Amino acid sequence: MSADSQIYRASTTAPVNIAVIKYWGKRDTALNLPTNSSLSVTLSQKSLRTHTTASASSSYSGQDSLILNGEEEDIQSSKRTQACLKHLRSLRAELEDKDSSLPKLSSFPLRLVSSNNFPTAAGLASSAAGFAALVRAIADLYELPQSPEQLSLIARQGSGSACRSLQGGFVAWRAGTEADGSDSKSQEVAPVEHWPTMRALILVVSAEKKGVPSTAGMQTTVETSTLAPARFTEIVPRRMKEIEKAIQEKDFETFGRITMQDSNSFHAICLDSWPPIHYLNDVSRAAMNAVETANRKAGKIIAAYTFDAGPNAVIYYEKENAHLVAGVFKNVLARVSGWEGEFSDEIRPNEYGSLEQKTLMTLKSGVSRVICTGIGGGPEKIDRHLVDEHGQPVSSE
Ligand code: DP6
Repeated sequence: MSADSQIYRASTTAPVNIAVIKYWGKRDTALNLPTNSSLSVTLSQKSLRTHTTASASSSYSGQDSLILNGEEEDIQSSKRTQACLKHLRSLRAELEDKDSSLPKLSSFPLRLVSSNNFPTAAGLASSAAGFAALVRAIADLYELPQSPEQLSLIARQGSGSACRSLQGGFVAWRAGTEADGSDSKSQEVAPVEHWPTMRALILVVSAEKKGVPSTAGMQTTVETSTLAPARFTEIVPRRMKEIEKAIQEKDFETFGRITMQDSNSFHAICLDSWPPIHYLNDVSRAAMNAVETANRKAGKIIAAYTFDAGPNAVIYYEKENAHLVAGVFKNVLARVSGWEGEFSDEIRPNEYGSLEQKTLMTLKSGVSRVICTGIGGGPEKIDRHLVDEHGQPVSSE
């Protein structure tokens, strides 16, 4: 193969993150700047991750392309993807200008291939992992020196929550105050090793109909909710401080209380929007009920629920309470698939008391899958490419 037709490749995997202080509202839609800071837990990639290969070659014809889970995506009309690609290319072009021996990757078409190890339709924050993997893989392909924090400025333009998936452990997205968004980026609050016993049980709930997409929902909330301004200016800034302290001190009771309060506050401003936005359903409420029952029985907060823009429940707990939290759900949902997950060995069915009949029946009929996972690290560079040495997409992993 002649030097100028070489296929350049880099591959990465990136995690999903689930916020405990929610991002909901934009102060600038073009730059994707949030109305408030947010904070999330990065989840283990063993259960949930996006694998992306970025490749570039002068032998590629046509425009940049992306194949996601085997399907060609229209990235030309996606302003957000275009913003990410443009930014990454300009950083590569700067390197090429400084060092003329570098191959001119910035001028080659990009061929991107990506796949999730979980169903995209399950509504599990796939855009966060997706944009984080895309940005990281291209940054590696271009050999960019930028730090994860600096790359988060780019991923943010793809999808706000994606900026928090460029790091592992507990990650804040600082809203920033600059008009150009230059200080609106992610920051690691604590690494995985600080609190490795943090677990997350995900109950996948099927929605009857597709909910309002988050971008549109946020705009409705910003424009119409009477409760939202207090959340943006007072409630979230106070909670950010409190939860960061709780994380530093590994104080689960405070961490759990704020997590539940903030999820409820986010769904309250959704309900207070006009037209109102409903993401939770009866199954979500049954999961809340089960968590509240477990906490009541324990006499303290040992489990915390949180819900994004859909009915799926994510329940945080510590390893030592696996049988009292995940065990309660295992009693009810033993036949549902997913219990064989990463931390399933810790989960024993428990005799700690049962749930009321209605909660039990609602969970049984509404949860289609469970995922037992925990906290995890940031993106990882890997050698397994989804584009072969001839530039062709590899059909399956
Ligand atoms: C409810 O990051 O999907 O999950 O920036 O418009 O792409 P865009 O929104 P997105 O919103 C996520 C909202 C949330 C809360 C959160 O993850 O903080």
